[in-house]
Amino acid sequence: MPSSGSSYRLGAALLQSLAQEMNALAEQASALLSTPPESLSLDADIVAQIARRNVPRWHFAMLNDIERNDGLVAALERGIPAGATVLDIGSGSGLLAMAAARAGASKVITCEMNPLLAEIARNVIDAHGLSDVITVFGKPSTELDAERDLGGRVDVLVSEIVDCGLIGEGLLPSVRHAREHLLAPDGIMLPSAARLRGRLVSSEAVLKLNQVTTAGGFDVSLMNTVATRGHFPVRLDTWPHRFLSEAAPVLEFDLARDALEPGERTLTLPATADGEAQALVVWFELDMGNGVVLSNPPDNPGSHWMQGWVPLEKPVPTKAGETVSLRLRWSDFTLRLSL
Ligand SMILES: C[S@@+](CC[C@H](N)C(=O)[O-])C[C@H]1O[C@@H](n2cnc3c(N)ncnc32)[C@H](O)[C@@H]1O
Repeated sequence: MPSSGSSYRLGAALLQSLAQEMNALAEQASALLSTPPESLSLDADIVAQIARRNVPRWHFAMLNDIERNDGLVAALERGIPAGATVLDIGSGSGLLAMAAARAGASKVITCEMNPLLAEIARNVIDAHGLSDVITVFGKPSTELDAERDLGGRVDVLVSEIVDCGLIGEGLLPSVRHAREHLLAPDGIMLPSAARLRGRLVSSEAVLKLNQVTTAGGFDVSLMNTVATRGHFPVRLDTWPHRFLSEAAPVLEFDLARDALEPGERTLTLPATADGEAQALVVWFELDMGNGVVLSNPPDNPGSHWMQGWVPLEKPVPTKAGETVSLRLRWSDFTLRLSL
């Protein structure tokens, strides 16, 4: 544990590193703002740097995930009534908005909080001749106004805003807001429910992705103060690991009815082997309705979604046949575990 003096200095350094990042961004932005937009070449280094920073690489893996794409398209074709008005939260490239239009929606509004992606979506949609049916807003759904932007509450809410641990992209606050302000009463939600499942797991290899003790004979464990406390993505089958429990339900959300607020619960997991659990590995089941469920369990390595590794503060001993009790807390974006 750092002393209180060094805690203070760590806190100050944290703020300093944030300020440094913001200064660099501000400098880059002011250089760019003095450039006429039409003279910005897509090949310019600065454009590439901004694109790399602002558009996560997983967008490519995601759009190449055929199981995901086909599942979403099938769900929209089965779930959108002909002539319905649709709001798609999180346009990305415009895929779901275009699928909704093709499925028979009379009007589709899609919003993307990343303005660069929103502009790409506008172009993709235009290239498919769908601009008269689809309107793209380059802002977060929480800034949409039903009357001003949607022409009234919509019949169907569509979204694919889930990360490896379900909630990391803000599914809960986005759906909470949209349900209250943007969707008609009894409107259709795609997805309508989501579950999280998990297993106790031990893996020295994965542990070492987020924890350190010594290096070159020196104690460098102070690095652990900046380790990730919440869930993070891990492609479990690529690392040696041992499961210490069967798969069990972890969380369940009825997206139409549940409060979708942050919360906590106790998990009681029957251990199936003796060992030391270092984490709960989790994956979701996203119920898109009409038989379409998207999921990223460890035995589905084809999914672009990895699994979520929810680290334990300290390893927990397990004994086959006995149960392990853990406290799970979820905020709007993160899953955390404690004893
Ligand atoms: C996982 S991607 C999916 C993109 C696209 N719907 C698809 O399925 O190919 C989610 C996108 O939603 C955007 N996003 C997440 N929450 C949002 C919100 N509340 N409002 C607007 N955009 C959001 C992210 O920036 C990201 O580009």
